[in-house]
Amino acid sequence: MNPFSQLFGLYIHWPYCLSKCPYCDFASVVCNQPDYEQLLTTYQRDIVFFKEKISADDCLTSIFLGGGTPSLIPLDMLENLMHVIKENFSLASDIEISIEANPDAITYEKMIGFRDIGVNRLSIGVQSLNENDLLFLGRRHTLKKALTCIENAQKIFDNINIDLIYARPHQTVSDWEKELTRALNLGLNHYSLYQLTIEENTPFGKNGVKTVDEQTAVELYQVTEDIMKKNGVCSYEISNYAKAGYECRHNLTYWRGCNYMGIGPAAQGRLNYLETINPSRVPDWITNGPKCTQLTPTEKNEERIIMGLRLKKEGIPVHILNPVGVDKAIQNGWATLRQDFFYPTETGFLLLNQLILLVTP
Ligand SMILES: C[S@@+](CC[C@H](N)C(=O)[O-])C[C@H]1O[C@@H](n2cnc3c(N)ncnc32)[C@H](O)[C@@H]1O
Ligand code: SF4
Repeated sequence: MNPFSQLFGLYIHWPYCLSKCPYCDFASVVCNQPDYEQLLTTYQRDIVFFKEKISADDCLTSIFLGGGTPSLIPLDMLENLMHVIKENFSLASDIEISIEANPDAITYEKMIGFRDIGVNRLSIGVQSLNENDLLFLGRRHTLKKALTCIENAQKIFDNINIDLIYARPHQTVSDWEKELTRALNLGLNHYSLYQLTIEENTPFGKNGVKTVDEQTAVELYQVTEDIMKKNGVCSYEISNYAKAGYECRHNLTYWRGCNYMGIGPAAQGRLNYLETINPSRVPDWITNGPKCTQLTPTEKNEERIIMGLRLKKEGIPVHILNPVGVDKAIQNGWATLRQDFFYPTETGFLLLNQLILLVTP
């Protein structure tokens, strides 16, 4: 069996937002009047490009609409896009279809519309359950709006994620414990919990915003792991926690090194050794299709290690690693070995970048 074909995903990038958050370095821009027809035609072009590259047996196990703010996509456009997807690809009967939503860019009616088109997983960008920090993060929504959005989503979807950003400047461990407990009390099945990173090109980067110090960041991470574990929402990737059976299948596709296609500006794809990268700027994407590169086995192996070591429970086959580095990692207490699979320990996860350097051949 082709090792890259266990899962097979389609990522669709929606490039627009209502405003730009000061910490965000994702490929997204503000645009009040997108040309929906042209966007649809260009997504269609990307779909046909990929259709010619895959075999008739390849069956999609997940679709993920990310962004940007894909909950802004008009329902009729998404319906048309899904139609084009179904015309060109076969879909698994239990396919996972996720969409990212901002609390201020989705209504109850629109959630119903998404569900009726086939979306079965909603990922809501809540970011904080603290009103002042929502303002600090430049979010357009209040806490009340975020909570109403979650409440509405719970009436429609079983599979819901919220994104939260922690390790915000001056955030204490006890502040975060309270906030995280409140988030858990919402009773959701999936939580993406990211430590704030300061990206150079963003207003936060340019204005010298600092995250918490390293020691606090480690404590915040450990407390997060403890609280989530106690509540039965298990850590399955460095920043992702889910109740059993609710792990995001689409993201697992990336972390397990399986194949995926990527359509829309800035979207990437991997089909065995083929890497595809679309131009990030919308006009460049419209004019040019994806840039294609053949990865070497060494590059593919490196990617497999970088992605696979993020997974908490799965480990990666030891034979793809550098044996000297593996011995050293085990001696350091950064990893363990079980049945020819290599698993980072909690210390290893805290030092993941160093661990990757150590074990990559
Ligand atoms: C593609 S973004 C967009 C989701 C959606 N547009 C929103 O903002 O709600 C996915 C997630 O990445 C996280 N993120 C973005 N920039 C980040 C940063 N600098 N540090 C930590 N997390 C970040 C946020 O939690 C965000 O929800
Ligand atoms: S965090 Fe989300 S809403 Fe904010 S700019 Fe980035 S993609 Fe857009």
